[in-house]
Amino acid sequence: MKALVTGGAGFIGSHIVDALLERGDEVVVLDDLNTGFRHNVDERARLIIGSVADEYVVRDAVDGCRVVFHQAAHKAVLRSIERPLPTDAVNTHGTLTMLQGALDAGVERFVHASSSSIYGGSAPLPTREDAGATPRSPYAVSKLAAEHYCRVYAELHGLETVALRYFNVYGPRQRPDATYAAVIPLFVEALLTGRAPEVHGDGLQSRDFTYISDVVDANLAAADAPAAACAGRAYNIAGGASWALLDILRTLGDLLHVEPQPKFVDARPGDVRHSRADPSSAARDLGFRCRVDLEDGLRRTVDWLRSLHN
Ligand SMILES: NC(=O)c1ccc[n+]([C@@H]2O[C@H](COP(=O)([O-])OP(=O)(O)OC[C@H]3O[C@@H](n4cnc5c(N)ncnc54)[C@H](O)[C@@H]3O)[C@@H](O)[C@H]2O)c1
Repeated sequence: MKALVTGGAGFIGSHIVDALLERGDEVVVLDDLNTGFRHNVDERARLIIGSVADEYVVRDAVDGCRVVFHQAAHKAVLRSIERPLPTDAVNTHGTLTMLQGALDAGVERFVHASSSSIYGGSAPLPTREDAGATPRSPYAVSKLAAEHYCRVYAELHGLETVALRYFNVYGPRQRPDATYAAVIPLFVEALLTGRAPEVHGDGLQSRDFTYISDVVDANLAAADAPAAACAGRAYNIAGGASWALLDILRTLGDLLHVEPQPKFVDARPGDVRHSRADPSSAARDLGFRCRVDLEDGLRRTVDWLRSLHN
């Protein structure tokens, strides 16, 4: 099979690329290297450096592909609050450009990276897909708009779109030195270098942390699940358990044999208090369940982050 992975030089996309190559697929990557890295892309993949919002580049990238894994996005909530226009241009218009390109090229399945942020923190826990969305940042709005475009392309044109709502993904290749780095690499980096890990708010906010290999498995399952069950739909991708940030910090401290001394700072705008998925729809329609438990995932993440220091 020939597949396109947009954002394939980034954290999640590059792991999808590796899994596809591993099973013998032909892989094209479309990435503008905005937050991604050329060295993340296996040399067996064809890397096209360009934007998902550029219809001419997209036309070349999708040519001959059966599946598109659309991961490219501006993904930082804070960045979207500070600079909403580029977030919208890439996440909303870019997704529409990808959908139209995929349709024109005869792509069968379009797997879209969506986000738990669309729920906005006011839905009942554990949150089901039909809970209703109240996005609270330009990023979350752009992700919800993109999901709607995916559904509309399925309904109007029969393009088999499947949106996957990721919940706080973590693992190797998620960098601590990115401008808007995620909490787990920041905690590990602080503990490795003897600094006080910064905790926004009281640290009791909780998340349904999801290990990267589970997210890759979800993408592969979404590419192959029967269209009658999943086309035009959106699914939670998470384990269905949640951990407070202070629990994560404690577990990391145990793994690294240090006593974390957190520095509490202001809560961040746009952050939700608690987030936990009901993952049963993905199990039913995609045959997907998370397999990696938190401690195992954190151990693998720590090993990778430690290797950056060697
Ligand atoms: N990491 C998470 O916890 C998480 C949670 C929910 C949803 N998501 C979604 O998963 C997807 C992947 O996220 P990630 O964590 O791997 O982020 P990432 O920043 O590592 O990867 C995004 C990739 O997209 C590329 N990109 C950005 N703008 C582009 C453009 N205009 N054209 C082509 N490529 C472009 C970047 O260079 C980067 O390689 C995103 O759609 C994100 O919104 C991530």
